[in-house]
Amino acid sequence: MQLPRHGQSHDQVLAALSAFRARDADWKSGRTFSLVYYGGEELLCLLRDAFWMYFSENALNPQAFPSLRRFETEVLAMVADLLGHPEAAGTMTSGGTESILMAVKTARDWARVHRPQATEPEMLLPATAHPAFHKAAHYFGVRAVLVPPGADFRTDAAAARALLNDQTILVVGSAPSYPQGVIDPITDLAALAQEHGILCHVDACLGGMLLPFLRKLGEPLPPFDFAIPGVTSMSCDLHKYGYAAKGASVILYRDRALRQFQFVAYSDWSGGLYGSPSAAGTRPGGPIAAAWAVLHYLGEEGYLRMAKATI
Ligand SMILES: Cc1ncc(COP(=O)(O)O)c(C=O)c1O
Repeated sequence: MQLPRHGQSHDQVLAALSAFRARDADWKSGRTFSLVYYGGEELLCLLRDAFWMYFSENALNPQAFPSLRRFETEVLAMVADLLGHPEAAGTMTSGGTESILMAVKTARDWARVHRPQATEPEMLLPATAHPAFHKAAHYFGVRAVLVPPGADFRTDAAAARALLNDQTILVVGSAPSYPQGVIDPITDLAALAQEHGILCHVDACLGGMLLPFLRKLGEPLPPFDFAIPGVTSMSCDLHKYGYAAKGASVILYRDRALRQFQFVAYSDWSGGLYGSPSAAGTRPGGPIAAAWAVLHYLGEEGYLRMAKATI
């Protein structure tokens, strides 16, 4: 296909888009688990309005758009509080994969300073963990050492211990894992990491906006968040059970000193100082504004209601 020579009208273009959708999945009928998290028409309208209001804004420069910086800071604070550590520091990202990429990149750069003997860094990765960790391993030169699950599909912490060596910089657990929806023994995995002075990441991309509410509803859940001392970072997607618009996730670190390893700044560019917190350059304002909007729209009561319906 080539760029059309002549432009078409607004109506023509939209009619074509609409026609092409005919064979797409009918997500409003509830048959697209994990692709679309549909929270109902009213919620969708709110997301559209908030997203549209910030459709053109760019969070790359927080000085130009202090409102977006405020939304991001407040979203991070709310999620940090839900995940058991209000002081956690983080950034919003475009999704679970970017959050995971950042966690692994941060661990690698942290280890260059704090584990210099790890010249060929490894992470202990549950075999059930999301493939984004393999992408991160590939991008950042960290070897993924697979930890097998037990009969209940939860990662075998004893097997993790046996695989740990002086090159290990990071232990990963999922809360829950995508394939089986079970929560890894985070307490044991984090204790192992802490014992060896290395990092522990909990992937709560799927569960971060669901488990805290299920716990409040009285579901018996094992510990999985920053309340466990050895957990040093967590990923949590807002565009899953946070019911936000797509392109919204959170990566959180136990403290700012650790988050520092995520940032990249370049000061010798002829274009001036360039700093960026995550993998993206341009950061669309829409997902940030819509995430802030849905957290305020639903509130704790709304998320409890959604969690109850979901489980
Ligand atoms: C446990 C878990 N981690 C990470 C991801 C990746 O998230 P994304 O598709 O937003 O990049 C998913 C997606 O389903 C997931 O379930």
